[in-house]
Amino acid sequence: MTSTSTNTAHAIIQTDPKDPSSLEWQAIDKPQPAEGEALVRIHYAGLNRADTLQAQGHYPPPKGVTETIGLEAAGVVENPNGATKADGTPWQEGEEVAVLLSGGGYATHAAVPAGQLMPIPKGYSLAEAASVVEVACTVWSNVADIAGLREGELALFHGGGGGIGLFATQYAHAIGAKVAVTASSQAKLDVCRRYGADTLINYKEEDFAEVLRELGGADVILDIIGAKYLDSNVKALAMDGRMVIIGMQGGVKGELNIARLLNKRGTISATGLRYRDAEDKARIVRGTLEEMWPLLESGKISHHIDRTVPIQDAAAAHQALLAGEVTGKVVFEVPQD
Ligand SMILES: NC(=O)c1ccc[n+]([C@@H]2O[C@H](COP(=O)([O-])OP(=O)(O)OC[C@H]3O[C@@H](n4cnc5c(N)ncnc54)[C@H](OP(=O)(O)O)[C@@H]3O)[C@@H](O)[C@H]2O)c1
Repeated sequence: MTSTSTNTAHAIIQTDPKDPSSLEWQAIDKPQPAEGEALVRIHYAGLNRADTLQAQGHYPPPKGVTETIGLEAAGVVENPNGATKADGTPWQEGEEVAVLLSGGGYATHAAVPAGQLMPIPKGYSLAEAASVVEVACTVWSNVADIAGLREGELALFHGGGGGIGLFATQYAHAIGAKVAVTASSQAKLDVCRRYGADTLINYKEEDFAEVLRELGGADVILDIIGAKYLDSNVKALAMDGRMVIIGMQGGVKGELNIARLLNKRGTISATGLRYRDAEDKARIVRGTLEEMWPLLESGKISHHIDRTVPIQDAAAAHQALLAGEVTGKVVFEVPQD
């Protein structure tokens, strides 16, 4: 079950590429950090919807990245290997760290580019830190950096009860923006309200585009549905509205009413974090540390961990996420010798 020699690590291995539930904890060779990478001993890893997609064969790792699933983790630097922090000071062996990964988080060890190593937010445990890395970077990159959400504007976040939705809601609320969210149940909407959502839309009962039209339109939309919502999202945009698509849970090919978009001087972007190069990821990490870490440390944004489970139960956790049973984040505990 544990790493028995210095060259051995453990990881979740998908034993049958056609079976997303065939996730087994097995011994592997310990990753070797390349120049500019540190070796991190992982204590906790976060679950992201993308991990379930990878297990289904839809979301392969970027070229040269390990096949092991997992986009975020927190642990301890085992070998800094010369990696330095944003301010130029070297990481030290034994320092606690949170990491943004292109893959490989479901494991005892990961080799991590220096630009993707982050200090633990003050007051956070390693489990809590592992739950915020991917959502904080995604929300900073898309809501703050690309869409440029400002105080006084209205944002619409689909999947309000998800990891991204709860973080985005808190960020928007913290900077003085208004927030509308969509979710499938009153229970999830109640959690969204607790974190600052102003308008709660049960998408099973209401037409979100109509609700947003009555509010004057959304200045910013963070979309995770894709094709199925394209037309309604454009309807829901305000003048000069900015929409960023980050997920395709509702399909990849939609029809765009260009006239409607043009009349609103609207902008649509679509982005992915995982396939960016190390330099771009480092830029996003720096922006996230500057803007999101102080909000986490002051309590203006909280983590929301739905459950913490042993990493050996990864398959069951994937199933729970896909069944809509999770609000916020699932965190995996990784065995330590
Ligand atoms: N492009 C990127 O860089 C990037 C980075 C991170 C995440 N993502 C994507 O962003 C999405 C959200 O990520 P996450 O980590 O928050 O996933 P998550 O925790 O699984 O949340 C997804 C949410 O979608 C909701 N949902 C499903 N169908 C919906 C619909 N028709 N309308 C509104 N909500 C709906 C689900 O809840 P209910 O339906 O029960 O309300 C769930 O809360 C995922 O698709 C993920 O792959 C993209």
